[in-house]
Amino acid sequence: MNRMIINADLGKLTISRHLYGHFSEHLGRCIYGGYWVGGDSPIPNTRGIRNDIVEALRNIRIPNLRWPGGCFADEYHWMDGIGPREQRPTMVNTHWGGVTEDNSFGTHEFLDLCSQLECEPYICGNLGSATVREMSQWVEYVNFDGVSPMADLRRENGRADPWGVKFWGIGNENWACGGDMRPEFYADQYRRYACYCRSYGENRLFKIACGPCGPNYEWTEALMRGIPRGMDGLSLHYYCGSGEESRSATQFSEIDWFHQLKRALVMDELVTRHTVLMNRYDPEGKVALIVDEWGAWHAVEPGTNPGFLYQQNSLRDAMVAAVTLDILNKHCERVRMANIAQTVNVLQAMVLTEDEKMLLTPTYHAFEMYKVHQDATLLPLDLETEDYQMGEESVRAISASASRDADGKIHVSLSNANPNKDIDVTCEVRGVDCAGVIGRVLTADKMQAHNTFDQPEAVKPVEFDGASLTGGKLLVKAPAKSVVVLAMK
Ligand code: AHR
Repeated sequence: MNRMIINADLGKLTISRHLYGHFSEHLGRCIYGGYWVGGDSPIPNTRGIRNDIVEALRNIRIPNLRWPGGCFADEYHWMDGIGPREQRPTMVNTHWGGVTEDNSFGTHEFLDLCSQLECEPYICGNLGSATVREMSQWVEYVNFDGVSPMADLRRENGRADPWGVKFWGIGNENWACGGDMRPEFYADQYRRYACYCRSYGENRLFKIACGPCGPNYEWTEALMRGIPRGMDGLSLHYYCGSGEESRSATQFSEIDWFHQLKRALVMDELVTRHTVLMNRYDPEGKVALIVDEWGAWHAVEPGTNPGFLYQQNSLRDAMVAAVTLDILNKHCERVRMANIAQTVNVLQAMVLTEDEKMLLTPTYHAFEMYKVHQDATLLPLDLETEDYQMGEESVRAISASASRDADGKIHVSLSNANPNKDIDVTCEVRGVDCAGVIGRVLTADKMQAHNTFDQPEAVKPVEFDGASLTGGKLLVKAPAKSVVVLAMK
């Protein structure tokens, strides 16, 4: 019933490490009270950035970080966030809680964060409410090495060398918070703004257009038709919401579990259909599909600011991450970057903080287990799975992906969405002789299990002894509601 064939000698495509990217916005306690505590804080930090968060994110090999938004990006004026901090003007963060943004975390601080994380920065520019000149000057400030007004200003602000940022977003959600535009109008605006974002020196910019929200195929079609060149990536945003009856991150029933996973699996259809459209206009696959916002979106934790989007994170969220990453892996030919929202203290976060305390969420652990797929070769996988049934509806019970890394090691990630039943999966591994298998599993007694500041290790991966390998046949007993990652050599 549950069978898999892995063709270990037939892999052709690389799973870009950038599929495992992240997104952090000036929203709630993501930046302030999250990464950024300031240099005078008693919380251990390097130039104002929390050391424990940096260490945790380096451990999952964070490949890139998208910033400063989100909706915030299209009202952000980058020049307000450079120069002496005490002289930076303030602004109102109208989208997120109406709080005052003091601009103490700006371009230099963000790029310092990326260098501490050893990840690639992905800057999202303001097309909605800033000028072409402003976006063009930001690129010049960050990337130009010669003598120019912006490069000189950067030097005055203490940074001699350009950073050489490659990934630039030209606006965010311009169909809504980024200017409420029609697709044809946005396509023309994109062409104009992107035209003045120059590549300096060896660094060729990778320009990303604001793509659709979920199933808005008209938006994709209008952009693919309207922007025949000068677009390296087209973004896609898809949030899979929360439960069906409860939107709480931790107080939910099996109905909510089921519907959350059902909605997460919709990513497969979205990516497939947007890819079909892109193939029509771009058969050579030059334009990447960039899923630069995705994840679960629950109700905020009781008593917290509704505009801060602070939510807990349970085993269910780890399942959402696992099935989504499997889908992204599968589509890695067209999907070359993705960014889960939003890393710290916001939406489906990797880490939560409370003053000096920090915890790792179940989603963090899924990312940590899946990091083995980064830059590995995707191995073709045929999967036959039973369904996980809920009343009249069903989803596939098992999701999986397989890859081979640079050392020849084969990794199989596999999750069982059924919270009530262990499932035996038989797997034929063709084209290689592997001597043994080891693995880890992430599961818990309850679907709602999560980590708290009092019990930060309630959900974490442990060694897995439910897999065996004999004569090319792999047998896996996938525990109910679990994520398993296996390594074979
Ligand atoms: O991630 C939160 C918000 O969701 C982002 O600011 C916006 O782009 C999206 O609607």
